[in-house]
Amino acid sequence: MHHFHYRDNHLFCEDVPVSQIAEAVGTPFYLYSRATLERHFKAFESAFSGARRLICFSAKANSSLAVLTLLRNLGAGLDIVSGGELYRGLCAGFPADRIVYSGVGKRVDEIDEALAAGIRMFNVESLGELRCIDQRAAALGKTAPVAIRVNPDVDPGTHPYISTGLKKNKFGIDMETSLEAYALARDLPHVEAVGIDCHIGSQITQVAPFRDALASLMTLVVRLREMGLAIRYLDMGGGLGITYGQEAPPHPDEYARAIVAATGDSDLELILEPGRVIAGNAGILVSRVLYNKAGMAKHFVVADAGMNDLLRPTLYQAYHAISPVRYRGGKTIVADVVGPICESGDFLALDRTIEAPVEGDLLAVMSAGAYGFTMGSNYCSRLRVAEVMADGGHFEVIRSRQTYGDLTAGETVPSFLSAGATKI
Ligand code: LLP
Repeated sequence: MHHFHYRDNHLFCEDVPVSQIAEAVGTPFYLYSRATLERHFKAFESAFSGARRLICFSAKANSSLAVLTLLRNLGAGLDIVSGGELYRGLCAGFPADRIVYSGVGKRVDEIDEALAAGIRMFNVESLGELRCIDQRAAALGKTAPVAIRVNPDVDPGTHPYISTGLKKNKFGIDMETSLEAYALARDLPHVEAVGIDCHIGSQITQVAPFRDALASLMTLVVRLREMGLAIRYLDMGGGLGITYGQEAPPHPDEYARAIVAATGDSDLELILEPGRVIAGNAGILVSRVLYNKAGMAKHFVVADAGMNDLLRPTLYQAYHAISPVRYRGGKTIVADVVGPICESGDFLALDRTIEAPVEGDLLAVMSAGAYGFTMGSNYCSRLRVAEVMADGGHFEVIRSRQTYGDLTAGETVPSFLSAGATKI
């Protein structure tokens, strides 16, 4: 359930007409509903209420300071994958011991920053990384809490680009090698194996893959405890899917029941890393129709938002519903909704039945609150769009639209190219 709805054919976010925000901030912009973010977080968190748990929002889904601050205030932890996300998390006030750090390619400087901050746990993805963390912890006079990210070789039944728990994926360490990794962790002086971690993919719409992965993990926990390791945390990653169109993913309650049941009386504290299920349906991308263009084979609706603003349709052939910000009650057409970028892959929707828009109309690209703004870019020197959050009848810009000055900030023309320089 989300708080984007129609009143008299006008789209509202909570109690604010979307068109009013467009007038105030221009287009395109991302718009988030505070009540929806809160509702989704609370629904997820309370689904696990019977268990000891830490719900670490996955920053990659939406790392705006306003969104992070809102979730931190609700008691969330944070799942990060870079020094930049650590920086954002600390800026948003997350206590370091509520931050977990995943990712296959942690650099030394990023590891040092996380050690200095005192994060809850590193989710380690290779033997090389484990040794590196041990060395850095030694250098900084610390002991690093680690979990091994185990790859259980389970098919999550999702898009190949966002499936991570199969043998052929670069993520995690296979079951057999993970025993070796834990043995190494036991022997290294500056790491302490405190947990076990797994993340099998994203936009998963069934419970079975989680259950299968967990069955393997629980067998491993028993072995690890026999090895004398004090495993306290079970991090199940993120991955719970949402409804973009026709999907019917399990409710967080059903997902939580399966996870809690599988962990039995193991006395593990659960860590979850949801991203999409919290933020996905809490945000939309609002764009203005620039032109209606009758192509030779198709009708194109040219919008002012493109693949640099929302990459998902292009990259994953992802479906996002496209809704008019004001229903005109007119005829429908089948059209490609495309952006202004010079690539045929620049589309928001293909062959979509929509109400025929008039040039200047506003469109809402739904379910864009996760992996929307965060995956955006300045491609074609387009300005990163504004972000806005609504709360009841009130809204605020939480990130201003970039300016042309932002585009060239940090660039320099080398001295050998400046006037008067001689080429040797
Ligand atoms: N934890 C780890 C280690 C992850 O790699 C991810 C997502 C999550 C948690 C959060 O997963 P979620 O609950 O959001 O499914 N850009 C893609 C999604 C990539 C997901 C990458 N990892 C998309 O737009 O669909």
